[in-house]
Amino acid sequence: MTPRPIPVPAPGGTEAPARDSEFARDLLRAFCDRPHRISPKYFYDAAGSALFDRICELPEYYPTRTELGILRAHAGEFAALAGPHAEIVEFGAGSLHKARLLLDAFDRPARYLPIDISAEHLSAAAVHLRGDYPALEVHPVAADYTQRLLLPAHSPREGRRIGFFPGSTIGNFSPEEALQFLRVALQVLRGGALLLGADLVKDPQVLHAAYNDSQGVTAAFNLNLLARANRELGAGFQLERFAHYAFYNAPLARIEMHLVSRCTQVVEVCGRASEFDEGESLHTENSYKFTIDGLRALAQRAGFRPGPVWTDPERLFSVHWLHAPENA
Ligand code: AVJ
Repeated sequence: MTPRPIPVPAPGGTEAPARDSEFARDLLRAFCDRPHRISPKYFYDAAGSALFDRICELPEYYPTRTELGILRAHAGEFAALAGPHAEIVEFGAGSLHKARLLLDAFDRPARYLPIDISAEHLSAAAVHLRGDYPALEVHPVAADYTQRLLLPAHSPREGRRIGFFPGSTIGNFSPEEALQFLRVALQVLRGGALLLGADLVKDPQVLHAAYNDSQGVTAAFNLNLLARANRELGAGFQLERFAHYAFYNAPLARIEMHLVSRCTQVVEVCGRASEFDEGESLHTENSYKFTIDGLRALAQRAGFRPGPVWTDPERLFSVHWLHAPENA
């Protein structure tokens, strides 16, 4: 019925270091879990990040360009709310373009702290910014911001500390994880605020199209998870034997992405053979959609004081200013 990992001897008896990686562990664990699921963070190797950049350019994928429009239109208001010499703490360093909008608008920003699990992403971000903003202190932090978070001390000479979490990445978390993330963010942002981008619930057809583009880029992005396992772990996935399946789960207000086995098959990953039934799925991503009030209520539960909200004329996407009280 369901894949049972069967231990088989490693070829040649040598364990590639990649087999001890977090990706290998989580992928093997995914085959034991029912239903099979893995974190979407594994989409973003170099090939996956390039595919995601292409997704952002697709006519059907409205979030990136809509959020950029909102950020551009209201950067002056964010700057006024942040005040002079603010410190920008970005959760994830994948959106330099968006961070620059803030850095350009803010009044003499003092410091930029991008937090990312990928040291590679971070150093690329730092190099680019240091050249363009010589007065800015760029301080990359390699950390998993879903866990506890330790940041360099906030100097009293600096202005407010402003968190920045764009792209509706918060939608990748379950509601409980989103609350946990917001609580972690609040601890490091006290006395400042969080500027948060959240995709909105809307016509399911519009949502469906955004994750089922006509050029098949989202399908390639989803399937890249298996391609990456082949590259990094020597796994034996035959990509044409899996289908990209994305749909809007309206009762849970989320897009779900799956990779569905097109046939009964056995795949070897890290020396373990896993059996897939025809139609069996590996759940690769959730992308929750929010109402403005629902997002504000969630932020409030985490201890933030919701401030202004900006949206586009079609109400596709929202950007929230969430005050982080000094002590709560
Ligand atoms: C930027 C992670 C929120 O869910 O819309 C795009 C990722 N997945 N197409 C999203 C994504 C499929 C994106 N996030």
